[in-house]
This record gives sequence, structure tokens and C-alpha cells, in this order.
Amino acid sequence: MPPFSTSTEPSASKAPRALPTTREDLRDWVSEIANLTTPANIQWCDGSLGERQALIADMVASETLIPLDSERRPNSFLARSNPDDVARVESRTFICSASERDAGPTNNWHDPDDMRSTLSGLFSESMRGRTMYVIPFLMGPAGSPVTRVGIEITDSPYVVVSMGTMTRMGRIALDVIEGGADWVRAVHSVGAPLDDGQIDVAWPCNSTKYITHFPETREIWSFGSAYGGNALLGKKSFALRIASAMARDEGWLAEHMMLVRITSPEGHVAHIAAAFPSACGKTNFAMMQPSLPGWQVETLGDDIVWMWIDENGLLRAINPEAGFFGVAPGTSDATNPVAIQTLWGNTIFTNVALTDDGDVWWEGLTKEKPAHLTDWTGQDWTPESGTSAAHPNSRFTVAIDQCPTTASEWADPRGVVVDAIVFGGRRSDTMPLVTEARSWSHGVYLGATMASERTAAAEGTLGELRRDPFAMAPFTGYNVGDHWAHWLSIGERLRVSGRFPRIFQVNWFRRDESGRFLWPGFGDNVRVVKWMMDRLRGDIGGVDSPVGTLPKLADLDLRGLDIAISDATEILSVKYSEIERDARDAQSLLTLIGDTVPAAIWAENTETIALSQ
Ligand code: GTP
Ligand code: SPV
Ligand code: MN
Repeated sequence: MPPFSTSTEPSASKAPRALPTTREDLRDWVSEIANLTTPANIQWCDGSLGERQALIADMVASETLIPLDSERRPNSFLARSNPDDVARVESRTFICSASERDAGPTNNWHDPDDMRSTLSGLFSESMRGRTMYVIPFLMGPAGSPVTRVGIEITDSPYVVVSMGTMTRMGRIALDVIEGGADWVRAVHSVGAPLDDGQIDVAWPCNSTKYITHFPETREIWSFGSAYGGNALLGKKSFALRIASAMARDEGWLAEHMMLVRITSPEGHVAHIAAAFPSACGKTNFAMMQPSLPGWQVETLGDDIVWMWIDENGLLRAINPEAGFFGVAPGTSDATNPVAIQTLWGNTIFTNVALTDDGDVWWEGLTKEKPAHLTDWTGQDWTPESGTSAAHPNSRFTVAIDQCPTTASEWADPRGVVVDAIVFGGRRSDTMPLVTEARSWSHGVYLGATMASERTAAAEGTLGELRRDPFAMAPFTGYNVGDHWAHWLSIGERLRVSGRFPRIFQVNWFRRDESGRFLWPGFGDNVRVVKWMMDRLRGDIGGVDSPVGTLPKLADLDLRGLDIAISDATEILSVKYSEIERDARDAQSLLTLIGDTVPAAIWAENTETIALSQ
């Protein structure tokens, strides 16, 4: 057995008395993992600043982190991953429920016993020569009815520091476990054991990757990757895949959504939760700087929302995370000035380019490309290189409370009441700028049949259209048809109060034949939000269409916007033949899912086709 130590007393000779927990089941689990993975040391993480600084200093020494210029980007660092470890690996992500039906045809199912035996082989001695970190973390503010605890065991200090930003990590979470709470067990190894005297690489990982989930036992085992959602297990693995299964069992929702509070010039307030697929605009929406005067957008979350029905029958939401792991490319003063302000310092950048004066750069940050950079692979780069200087899925990791537009409610355990739910894909054609669903079940249908063009956030052919139900295709930890039924049942429960959030669908990404975006997007998206708020207040009508209610051109506030009336008319219209084709195309997903598809979803499909005749 390796000796135990705490992070404040890193000596290897502490007796178990120094353990920060009295919970025998927790000690036993940690011992069990240590016996399997045989690390050189064990460190319990307390989440303190000193602990973070010591880990960062170690990673700077081992060249995992490159310090940025302390004037330009204080207390900030660049990590360059292994070039084969740059994004989520959906093909290596498994749901190991007891029955295959529970994973459903959109997940990679694997028999749990079989997977356990594979994993015990992979994890056997996988931490040899490394420190095993024990990271207790909370998802959600302490005291919320949906807040849950996890412990990630990892051999990656990069993961520890990132989890420290992305979650409420350390003592605060251990205290909840001390109080009797159960925790989600998450085990992570980069899969790169070190032999005596072996020099480590900057980004250890393994070409064999397994991101595995056991929804029944609320367990996660991740092997071989240190990147993002593959390794920061509080995020997609826990807060979406495991939490969605918990939420199904317990009657709440865990969704791939951003969350904002909007205030109109008249002082009307609305909270909006929006589900867009990976790299499709959640962070941008969450930090929007409205182009219409007097409007205010405050940030509550940019990636994950947990929602429940309160004692008054209202749908309430929290952001379970504490930081942003945001897409860097495309982020600029023009597109997302709030993100640029947020990133002033205390940020870890992964796979962006390094400027000659020790700062960061990525495609889209400035109009002019720098004359010389070091690219994300560490090579010299000039504009003539013909390659991306930053990886298209390069990211920043920064605390939410560093964002100037963060609303204080982001940490309120009671959450906020959701007034509107928005679904949005990245689609060059077919789908208009915005519609409002006819009903809750039509809204669930819009979410269920959402489609979006693939981005660099995961492997796959860029730009290829795929169905991404609820923007949760890679994240629902159970049968997707059951997920739709669960949403319908939430609608039934909201009937008691009659206080339904309204459901909208948006598409910021429609293009003309030449490939030009028809809508300016970003801060101008507030014009769409304004229309939604007018609808919420019952002030305006609209135009019926097979995909829901479209705005009348006169009701979309285009003041101050330089947009051709022909473009505006086009994005506010649908071609019935295209909607019919899309609805028929969606049938292949419904057929694939089969008997778990609720009858109401088929009925909405039939209705959409009938309306588009
Ligand atoms: P994940 O973190 O992967 O879940 O993604 P996200 O949904 O938070 O994506 P993000 O907001 O970071 O957006 C990704 C890309 O979409 C960036 O390159 C943005 O510049 C671009 N984008 C965001 N909003 C808009 C918009 O309104 N119009 C256009 N054209 N592009 C946008
Ligand atoms: C996504 O891919 O949706 C992300 C990034 O938010 S990651 O955390 O890597 O999954
Ligand atoms: Mn995401």
C-alpha cells in the first residue's frame, strides 16, 4: 500500500490518522483504487490556493504548463496536449448499463461485467510512478436540492488544477460526504505509468482510450486521455451522463444548456436556458453584449444546467459548474468582448498559439494575423504556414466569478425560475432564425429532432449534419427515447402550476448560397431574445408555420442593424418543402430509437408533415 499524505503535509510518512475523512467506505474505496493502480504517492486535495500553486509550479517545472507573460496575462499558462488528444472521443465513450435497452441505440453500450474486466486490466498499475490525487468536488452550490458530490481520483495534476476551477473542489465537498452524503465515484488515469528513472512527457496519455459510465452504480472510469470532457469528469461524465440518469430516477433534468438572466430596458426580467450542441454558441449567448440599448444579459452558466420543479410547481435551474471550459477560436472583442475581459489572467489555455511576447493567440482573435507565432504543436508558424495556429477545439479554463457579467444568483442554491427554454442547432439551411413551439410537446419534439453540423469539439466529419437530440446526443446517460418521455412527464408535472417555460428554437447559422451568414449573430441575437420576451409577456402575435410560430418581420427589432430586408425576410421564413423533407428525415432517428419513442413525438412528427403539405 502506498503511504497516505494530505496536500498540506506532503510527506510520504503520514499514518492513516492524517486522512481527512472519517468515512470508512471512502477510505476503503481510495485504498482499493490505489491497490489497483499502484501510484507512488497519494494526495488528498483540499482545494486551497497553496495546493493549486504547488501543483502549477510542478507542472511548470515539468513543462506541462508554459507560463505566459506576467504583465500581459498574469498568473496564466499554456498547455499543449498530445496532438492525438485534442477533443472528446465519442467513439470511445461507453454507457455500461445492465441492459442494452437502457443505453439505447444512440449510445455505445457495453456489458458492465465485461467492461469491468477490461478496465481492471487497463487500470492495473496504470498510475505506477505517479501521484494519485483524490479530488472531492461538489456539482452545484452547497444546499441546493439537486447539488451532488463526486470524487475524482486521477493521476493528472492538470486535471486537478482544472477541476479546481470547474467545480467547488476540496474541503467543501468532503464536508458534505462527512455529513453522510454518497458520492459519484470517478476514476481517471492518463494510462502512462512511469518506470524508475523514466523521464515524463509534457502531456502523458495513451492511444487506447475508454470513457466509461456505469449509470446504475453512478460510476465513471476514464482511461487514456487528459483532454476536457474526457478527463474533467465532473463535467460531461458526471454532470450530464450520470446526472441525467440520476435525474430520470429522481424526477429532475440534467441538460447541455447555458443559463442567463435578461433584463429589458423597462426592467422586465427573464431567465433563459438554451441547449446548443458543442461549439454552437452557448458561451457566446451566456456572455452576450446586447446591441440594443438598455438591454442587459447576465451570465449564470455556459454549458450545463440542472433543473427541478419546486414546491410551487415552478421549474428552477442551477449551473452545477464553477468555471468555463470555453472554445477559444472565434472569441474576440467583436464577437465576445465579455469572454476577452474574463480571460485577463488566472486562466489556463490549452492548445492555443503562443505569441513571441508570451501571450496567446487563436484564429479570429484579431483581424490581422501575427507575423510569427509558435503554434499549438510547438512549431514555428507564420500566416504563410497554411495551418491553424491554434487547434480548432483549443480552449480556456477560467473561473465563472472572474466574468464581469456573472450574476450573483449563479451561486444561489435556490437557483432561478426558468421562463424560456431554447433549442438551437448550427444549420446552413432549412431552419429559420427563430420560432416558438406550439405546445410543450411540440417543444419537446423540436428538441428531440434537433440537427446540427458537426464541429471540432469531437471527432467526426466537420460540417456533416447529424441529429443531436436536445444537444445531448453524446451526453444522455440512458435511452434517448426515455429522455424524451422524461421531458414530457416534466411537462405533465408543470401542468399543476400551469407555469410552463415557453419553448423556442433558434438558428444563428443560416447561410445564403455563397456561404455567407444571413444573420449577424452574437450581440445582435438580443433582437431575437427581445421577440421572445415580447411573446412571454403576451404582447405580440406571429406567423404560424409547420415548425412553430415565426416572428412577423415588423416585430423583430432591427433598428440600427445594417441588414438587407431580403436577408431578414429569408431568415424569418421557411420553405414548407424543406420542413417536410427534414421531418421525414427525422423519422430515421425515431425508427432507429424504436419502441421507446413516446407516441406524442411521433404525433408531432405526423403533425409537422401534415402542416407542411
Ligand atoms: P461547448 O463548450 O463545446 O459546449 O460549446 P458552446 O456552445 O459554448 O460554443 P461557443 O459559444 O464557444 O461557440 C463556438 C463557436 O460558435 C465560436 O467559434 C463562436 O464564434 C461561434 N458562434 C457563437 N455564437 C455565434 C453566432 O451568433 N453567430 C455565428 N455566426 N457564430 C457564433
Ligand atoms: C463540449 O464538447 O460540449 C464541451 C467541451 O463543452 S468538453 O468539456 O471537452 O466536452
Ligand atoms: Mn459543452
